[in-house]
Amino acid sequence: MIIGNWKMNTLRADALALANAVMEMEYLDSTRVGICPPALWIDPITRIVKDSSILVGAQDCLGDRAGAHTGCINAAMVCDAGCSMVILGHSERRARFGETSEKLLNTVAAVLETGMFPLVCVGETKKQRESGKAFDVVAGQLRPLLTSGLDLGGIVIAYEPVWAIGTGLSASRKDIEEMHATVREVINRNDTLVLYGGSVSPESADDVFNAEGVSGALVGGASLNVSKFAAIVAAWERK
Ligand code: PGA
Repeated sequence: MIIGNWKMNTLRADALALANAVMEMEYLDSTRVGICPPALWIDPITRIVKDSSILVGAQDCLGDRAGAHTGCINAAMVCDAGCSMVILGHSERRARFGETSEKLLNTVAAVLETGMFPLVCVGETKKQRESGKAFDVVAGQLRPLLTSGLDLGGIVIAYEPVWAIGTGLSASRKDIEEMHATVREVINRNDTLVLYGGSVSPESADDVFNAEGVSGALVGGASLNVSKFAAIVAAWERK
């Protein structure tokens, strides 16, 4: 599974052009490809991709029922707009809005309830890695999900080391393998997809995808350029 996280990029015309370009990519029948545009462009994009296998996702939502939450959208709305997934707990939101796995539990539950899948991001900062705490941090971010009593059958995890996001410096194959093994050990399920994210590019993709335990990628910057995004999908295909 290769998912593009467009973050807070694209105006309407760029977004629609990019979605149309993604529609023309190769291997859409054999690799699950998804795009997560800014919330405003979800509706027109679901119309563009409706006859394809491309998944559309939101970058965040609330788990609350409809009500007085100015500026927010909830899981039911995102689902109704045609999404099949929601990115949750991205490190940029953890850092800026104080999101934690504990606080996200009701959103994870609400997303699962709609039939969409949550794509939950975990990952350590540079400081945490340098102080030898990377594995504890990631396990700590996963643990609330495990003790929540939720059926995690539909969940997808993305391991995204914060120090690798947007830096052009993807984690080494060894780092990825070690952390993916830890993630799989903690969640203790064989069927969970565990993606890697953090500077995945046409140059780094082969290395990332050859790492043991990697089920695909969450791609930020490179997903805004269809040639690069297509090259990453092609790398997955030749794995
Ligand atoms: P990047 O972002 O590919 O630009 O490093 C990945 C992400 O934050 O999901």
